[in-house]
Amino acid sequence: MRILAVETSCDETAVAVLQLEDGIFQILHHQIASQIEQHRPFGGVVPELATRQHLLCLDGMVSHALAQESCSLGELDGFAVTRGPGLASALLVGLSYVKGLALAAGKPWIGVNHLEGHLYSPFLSLGVEPEFPHLGLIVSGGHTQLLAVRDLGDYVKLGSTLDDAAGEAFDKVGKMLGLPYPGGPQIEVLARNGDPQAYVLPRSMLDSKNLNFSFSGLKTSVRVLLEKRTGLVDNEQELADLCASFQAAVMDILVYKARQAARENSLKKLTLSGGVSCNQALKKAMAQMAEIEGLEFLVASPILSTDNAAMIAAAGLLHLRAGHTSGYELDVDPNLRLCG
Ligand code: KG4
Ligand code: ZN
Repeated sequence: MRILAVETSCDETAVAVLQLEDGIFQILHHQIASQIEQHRPFGGVVPELATRQHLLCLDGMVSHALAQESCSLGELDGFAVTRGPGLASALLVGLSYVKGLALAAGKPWIGVNHLEGHLYSPFLSLGVEPEFPHLGLIVSGGHTQLLAVRDLGDYVKLGSTLDDAAGEAFDKVGKMLGLPYPGGPQIEVLARNGDPQAYVLPRSMLDSKNLNFSFSGLKTSVRVLLEKRTGLVDNEQELADLCASFQAAVMDILVYKARQAARENSLKKLTLSGGVSCNQALKKAMAQMAEIEGLEFLVASPILSTDNAAMIAAAGLLHLRAGHTSGYELDVDPNLRLCG
């Protein structure tokens, strides 16, 4: 089975062609047009700008994908597209485009939950089909969620953030530190030369007796510290120490909650996905915890961690194979949930 997928939920226009044969995923085409440079001067994503860029790029990228794979629309078995969550106008570009493709090709299509794409990206990275049940931790710019993944489409939310997502906390702290957008990768680089114990920062909700997260207190602590210690960001070592201390606090919270979730739900396989899972220190800490706990640990490869269309293709392909399809009346849903 071979499908083409489109992702336009935020600030990356992405197109992929994915094949599943004998239980093996093969990414035949993978293209991402990042808009980071366009949004950088504004310190975050500007929805109108994102939408216009998707409109400008998408058609050419799909034509390129088909030309490169030397395949016509009719040779594909279907299409997948992100229908939410994300920016409404940006999602609409991809969804409308794929409806047109499916209509022209006379093939089935499916609107995919962006988070479901992230969820399966660690398996896609290995080229294998997902195994159930497992514990999924999604850490992206918009979401931080722990899920019991019981089967395709059967998810139980075990915990999620009550305020900022982990990536959002990285980006907001990055902005406070005067770092270019997005702050996550910048903080990671600076943290490599810093002392994670230099500043005492809070680990919120560790004693909450539930699996929810909160990162806004941590962000506020950094702001208060910066107000007290004016000039800190101009000192190279102090800046590195603060980045390392902040990153360590985020990691401690994520690792602690993932361990609790695995123990409480007797899940033996843990996956880590979403843009923040590019973070090497987080991957290492999570892998160490998994080893101690006897968990199998799978993490998305960096190219499949941040937003891409191959992960949307993987989720879409699994659904199409299971006979699930979308109708032309389906609309985008900027607040689409995976469960509960
Ligand atoms: O999954 P993603 O591409 O987009 C969303 O669906 O939100 O994630 C983007 C997020 C941004 O907040 C970015 O700062 C963060 O992932 N990120 C990182 C790293 N690379 C990307 N955070 C920490 N360390 C990194 N190396
Ligand atoms: Zn994402």
